[in-house]
Amino acid sequence: MSRPQSEVPAPAADLYDVINRRRDVRGEFTGEPVPDEVLRRVLTAAHRAPSVGMSQPWDFVLVRDEDTRRRFREHVRSERDVFAAGLEGERAETFSRIKVEGVVESSLGVVVTYDADRGGPAVLGRHAIADAGLYSVCLAIQNLWLAATAEGLGVGWVSFYREEFLRDLLGIPSGVRPVAWLCLGPVRELAETPDLERHGWRSRMPLEDVLHHETYGSRPAR
Ligand SMILES: Cc1cc2nc3c(=O)[nH]c(=O)nc-3n(C[C@H](O)[C@H](O)[C@H](O)COP(=O)(O)O)c2cc1C
Repeated sequence: MSRPQSEVPAPAADLYDVINRRRDVRGEFTGEPVPDEVLRRVLTAAHRAPSVGMSQPWDFVLVRDEDTRRRFREHVRSERDVFAAGLEGERAETFSRIKVEGVVESSLGVVVTYDADRGGPAVLGRHAIADAGLYSVCLAIQNLWLAATAEGLGVGWVSFYREEFLRDLLGIPSGVRPVAWLCLGPVRELAETPDLERHGWRSRMPLEDVLHHETYGSRPAR
């Protein structure tokens, strides 16, 4: 039964605080271990995410092995070079100063995967939008990210990799897509400003720039 309007609780300030404090972390990991019970809470939060047709199409591979992480970091470095090779002038100069991963410095990697066959063959709600399965995995990642922030941990999403490489490295079956390598662990601090903004790569846009009224492109005069 839904609550009468008068009983709707006030906004949970703590949640907004966590959303505002969440940062993508690359350089601030301490490398200290994450206590088992904390890791369990963070993974449980991820597993509580909504999913299309309750398919829960995610899996979490915990990667602590240093050799595996070094091999992944080498691959990320070569993909960083591929991206850098396509840049010129100021973009190339700015990108050269940006760190894009903390794979070895973090405490562990959490690789989140997407299994499109989970919950099938008839996934309720996915018949018209195949990507709805992938959206569900991203929600699990966001839950993990916010829960980690609430626990005082940092998370860094690394996407400078080829799916085939990561599949081979971790023995992920061919039908399962790796969606993210998340660097996780205690941090010295969570920066107030996103790294990309600090380095002058790109800034957060004002909310008004992405708001439309009734039809796409209709904006009130400012
Ligand atoms: C799908 C996705 C992939 C990302 N991949 C990388 C990455 O490979 N390396 C990196 O340093 N940051 C990566 N990020 C982090 C973004 O750069 C970061 O979220 C953005 O700059 C805003 O900063 P904030 O998360 O600290 O607010 C990724 C974020 C998302 C959502």
